[in-house]
Amino acid sequence: MFLVSVFLQSLGSTLLLTLVYSVWIYFTSPIKSIPGPFFAKFTNLWRFFDTYGGRPELTQQMLHEKYGNAVRLGPNIVSISDPKLLRTLYNTRGDFLKSKFYTLNDTKVGSQIIHNVFSTLSNEFHASAMRPIQKFYKMSSVLTHEPLVDDTIAAFCKRLDEEFVETGKACKMDEWLLFFAWDVIAQMTFSRPMGFMDQGKDYSGLLATADRALDYFATVGQMPSFDHWLAKNPIRPIGPPSFDLAAIYCAQQALERQESNEKREDKPDMLDGFLEVKKSNPEIMNNQVVIGALLVNVLAGSDTSAILLRSIIYYTLKNPKVYQKLREELDNADLVHPVTYAAASFLPYLDAVIKESMRIHPSVGLLLERVVPESCLTLSDGTVIPPGTIVGMNGWVIHQNKEIYGQDAACFKPERWLRDLGAGETEDDFQARLSLMKTTDLTFGAGNRICLGKNISILEVYKVISTFFLKYDMAFVDPAKEWHVQNSWFVRQSGIDIKIQRRKRQ
Ligand code: HEM
Repeated sequence: MFLVSVFLQSLGSTLLLTLVYSVWIYFTSPIKSIPGPFFAKFTNLWRFFDTYGGRPELTQQMLHEKYGNAVRLGPNIVSISDPKLLRTLYNTRGDFLKSKFYTLNDTKVGSQIIHNVFSTLSNEFHASAMRPIQKFYKMSSVLTHEPLVDDTIAAFCKRLDEEFVETGKACKMDEWLLFFAWDVIAQMTFSRPMGFMDQGKDYSGLLATADRALDYFATVGQMPSFDHWLAKNPIRPIGPPSFDLAAIYCAQQALERQESNEKREDKPDMLDGFLEVKKSNPEIMNNQVVIGALLVNVLAGSDTSAILLRSIIYYTLKNPKVYQKLREELDNADLVHPVTYAAASFLPYLDAVIKESMRIHPSVGLLLERVVPESCLTLSDGTVIPPGTIVGMNGWVIHQNKEIYGQDAACFKPERWLRDLGAGETEDDFQARLSLMKTTDLTFGAGNRICLGKNISILEVYKVISTFFLKYDMAFVDPAKEWHVQNSWFVRQSGIDIKIQRRKRQ
């Protein structure tokens, strides 16, 4: 009885202290003039539960619609949607550092925290981690792996033919695009697919692990200090399952390659490049750095690309006129199978469809959080945001800006990326409008922490989409059905069931 009474008294005192603290924060906060949901001003639990609900990007669109360019999403966090500030928050100097949200991606080995190129908050660590690998992500370098992408596209078409074209069965396109995305990045990285297309399922459980890791990252990341008590607690970690299996797989690939005497001149992969640097500059590239780079490729480059591929196919099929125009362009372009990147990247309508899909459904759907430096952040209305405040932009909000993208910004309309000859738009006006749209694009982030693998995805996506629409007729099993969307940092889609037939003209 005595213990129960002590427990209740302690609980009561804790609740009272929390309440007093929250009220104090509310009245003394230097950002109290910034509007936002009432509870968000007291506690981060508001955004925790909103993210847990699975569609925070829609909440944020709605809040910016209601309150304008700055919305308070927590006691110390402000969402910004003013495109003029994009290059301030995400500049190449990197003076707005990443927030603690990202540290959930650190790994803990024993008592040691291991940072990586995505998770680190430090510009110095970031620069030194990028130095040995950065050159391998330039388009000129990525293009040397095009033959490996060709092999994976050919294998993808073969598997679709066997499973769906020849049998007439409906294809769960959301799943197959994910299998393709994991296999193609593995093929480019170490010339060996992960085996998802072959098996036609998540045979190793890795895809489910990746989903659970993202669910944890997105929600617990709204209150990052909880991560110390959950996944990083030293006694019994409570968190997502680890990626140990993927890390072991990458380590095996690196080891096998170093032990084999195989001559590899034909189709170079990224591991070849990493090992060359290891040989010539062992002081910057050791085995651990090689394995880390392989793992980043595989883990960061699959879901994101699959999401973009799904969006392109879904929105194109939902808009028959777009579908028709895209096919006409492809049919008139005299293309080979698989389509070369050189040819695909010169097709203006394909380019417009891909850009519009990225705009309307960015793969990342939470704020790209940054911390305001000592120099403060001044908003367009003169409000000053003090150092230490977390600020960020969300592609899902900023890509809906009507001044930049037009009054119909909510619609899927690839034509906005082309010159509007019907309305008499001059080339100069078009270039100015295009440049504004491009600089407001947050699909791959911006500044010194812009996506490392952007060119890899661009190469994959332009090639596979052009080949696909050239080769197949596609239709929804149920044209009225909407897909299902879940935002766990990556905005994943499911429920895209499609009938596929080989096109007659091929
Ligand atoms: C369509 C495909 C992709 C999309 C939409 C995408 C999106 C993004 C975004 C928005 C960021 C910035 C995150 C932030 O600032 O908080 C980012 C960072 C990053 N991405 Fe991607 N990504 C894609 C593909 C890839 C691929 C293929 C790789 C493989 C290497 C990759 C590796 C990375 C890494 C390592 C970072 C962290 C960069 C840094 O902090 O310096 N991504 N990506």
